[in-house]
Amino acid sequence: MVSFKELGLVNTREMFAKAIKGGYAIPAFNFNNMEQLQAIIQAAAELRSPVILQVSKGARNYANQTLLRYMAQGAVEYAKELGWENPQIVLHLDHGDSFELCKSCVDFGFSSVMIDASSLPYEDNIALTKQVVDYAHKYDVTVEAELGVLAGVEEEVASEVSHYTKPEEVVDFATRTGCDSLAISIGTSHGAYKFKPEQCTRDPKTGRLVPPPLAFDVLKGVEEQLPGFPIVLHGSSSVPQEYVDMINKYGGKMPDAVGIPEEQLRLASKSAVCKINIDSDSRLAMTAAVRKDLYENPGHFDPRQYLKPARDEMKKMYIHKIVEVLGSDGKA
Ligand code: G3H
Ligand code: 13P
Ligand code: ZN
Repeated sequence: MVSFKELGLVNTREMFAKAIKGGYAIPAFNFNNMEQLQAIIQAAAELRSPVILQVSKGARNYANQTLLRYMAQGAVEYAKELGWENPQIVLHLDHGDSFELCKSCVDFGFSSVMIDASSLPYEDNIALTKQVVDYAHKYDVTVEAELGVLAGVEEEVASEVSHYTKPEEVVDFATRTGCDSLAISIGTSHGAYKFKPEQCTRDPKTGRLVPPPLAFDVLKGVEEQLPGFPIVLHGSSSVPQEYVDMINKYGGKMPDAVGIPEEQLRLASKSAVCKINIDSDSRLAMTAAVRKDLYENPGHFDPRQYLKPARDEMKKMYIHKIVEVLGSDGKA
């Protein structure tokens, strides 16, 4: 058993309470490799922004859970080396799908876990979430749960339509499970193709897809039912069109990739939404920069030559999110 406290990590409790009071949101960035982690930590340390490092199922399969945990431990030390005396870094399991997996993360030093039982029937979601909460709380590890289903591919659960969270269920769910935060469905979804072209309109000037707005009425309903309770938004990449254009220009093919407009996330950050999940935008920044570098420099063969601009581009993107969208700079 390793406590996250020994690793210099923090849980989300105090962080979320401050974020809700302060009207900003904490960035939750997924990481799968060293360059992403370096970019996240450099951005957070320079801006003194609390940050959540997320480990998904895909990341565990790709990089190995043990290695990722040690990397996060290293990230705390790296942050201190960068001059951040008291780093506010959470190591979070993203979309945990079983009690055993959540337990293994709690036992191994994660400071926060998500149990995503949102695809199960309501009562089963409550039972599994409560089981995880009861275990995690013994070790002061905070637990995120989910109610409602996001459209698109929610991990391996394919769902054509989004089932918005029902505000009338949230009090019962939060009370009976004891969860510390709740991911809700208000129209966001995972990946770089969040909406089908037929769900969008087109901007006549640019020809770009304009997605339908998020269901802010559902968010408001949830806030009214659970005042001051920490709310989480998954699937919150904006899919910056400059990266899509770069990818397409330098040999990629991403037609009609579209995300959540930043103005809407900015608005959400000021509400009880205190954790915003971003993964795809990092993938896009990295891919765009690597493609550009290799296109312009056909002789490059040392990965450091093309991964350095990729890391710089990701850092720029993380800084933009923290300062211009979430408002978490200077909060740690
Ligand atoms: O929630 C989805 C995240 O973007 C992680 O995706 O399992 O492919 O790493 P992944
Ligand atoms: P995006 O695919 O929009 O980046 O969402 C990431 C996410 O929700 C991770 O849990
Ligand atoms: Zn997610």
